[in-house]
Amino acid sequence: MKGNSSVVQSSQDGLHPQLDRVVQKHLETPWRQPLHRPSVDAFERLLELQDFSAMRIVLDSGCGTGASTRMMAARYPECVVVGVDQSASRLARLGLGELPAREGNALFVQAELATFWRLALQAGWRLARHYLLYPNPWPKGAHLLRRWHGHPVFPQMLALGGVLELRTNWPIYAYEFERALGQVCPGIEIKSEERASEAGWDGIETPFGRKYAHSGHRLYRVVAKLPD
Ligand SMILES: C[S@@+](CC[C@H](N)C(=O)[O-])C[C@H]1O[C@@H](n2cnc3c(N)ncnc32)[C@H](O)[C@@H]1O
Repeated sequence: MKGNSSVVQSSQDGLHPQLDRVVQKHLETPWRQPLHRPSVDAFERLLELQDFSAMRIVLDSGCGTGASTRMMAARYPECVVVGVDQSASRLARLGLGELPAREGNALFVQAELATFWRLALQAGWRLARHYLLYPNPWPKGAHLLRRWHGHPVFPQMLALGGVLELRTNWPIYAYEFERALGQVCPGIEIKSEERASEAGWDGIETPFGRKYAHSGHRLYRVVAKLPD
C-alpha cells in the first residue's frame, strides 16, 4: 500500500468536550446491546480450533489483511496470536480460505470486535498483549461513540488486560485514548510516543502504518500495562 493518504480532517482541535462524561457513563452503565450473531458463531468455531485455557494470547484487533498478525506470530512464538477483523475482503487477502483458520501459531477470524471482546471476556481470556493498530478514527465530533475509547464496550475491552498498544495517525485519537485509559484505570502508567515511522516499534509494522508514514504523517502510539 503506497502513500499519498490525506491527514485526518476534523473540526476538533483538542479533546472532545464530552469525552470524560461519556467514558464515565460507560463505566457506570453496563452495556446491554445484543451480541452480533455471526461473530458469536465465529467465536465458537475459533474455540473448536484452539484450546485457549493454558495459552498466552496476543490479540490483533482490527488486523485488516493480517500482515501485522503474521509479524506478531513470529515475534511471540510462545504465544497464540489471534487476528480479528470484520472485513471479509481484507481477510480474504490472507489466502487461507474459510475462516477461522490457523497458520502456525496465528489464528484468523472474521468477527465484529465489540462482540468478540465481550465473548472473550466471558470465556475467561486474559491477554498477554493487545494491539489496536490504526482503528478507524471517526473524526466527526458526532462520532465520538464510535471511537473505541468513546464506545460503550471500552471498559470491557480494557478488562481483557495485558499490555495494550494503540497506534494512530490522528494525534487527537491518541490524546483521547490516553485520557480515557487514565479515567478507567486511575494511576496506571501510560507511555505515549510520536514518530515518523513504525521503525523500532517492536518490529511490528502494518500496511496502514506504512502508508501513513510514506505520506509524511506523524505516527502516534499509546502503550499501557493494564491491571490484572
Ligand atoms: C484502518 S484499518 C487498519 C488495519 C490494520 N490494523 C493496519 O494497520 O493495516 C481498520 C481495520 O479495522 C477493521 N474494523 C473496524 N471496525 C471494526 C469492528 N467493529 N470490528 C472488527 N473490525 C473492525 C476494518 O475492517 C479495518 O480492517
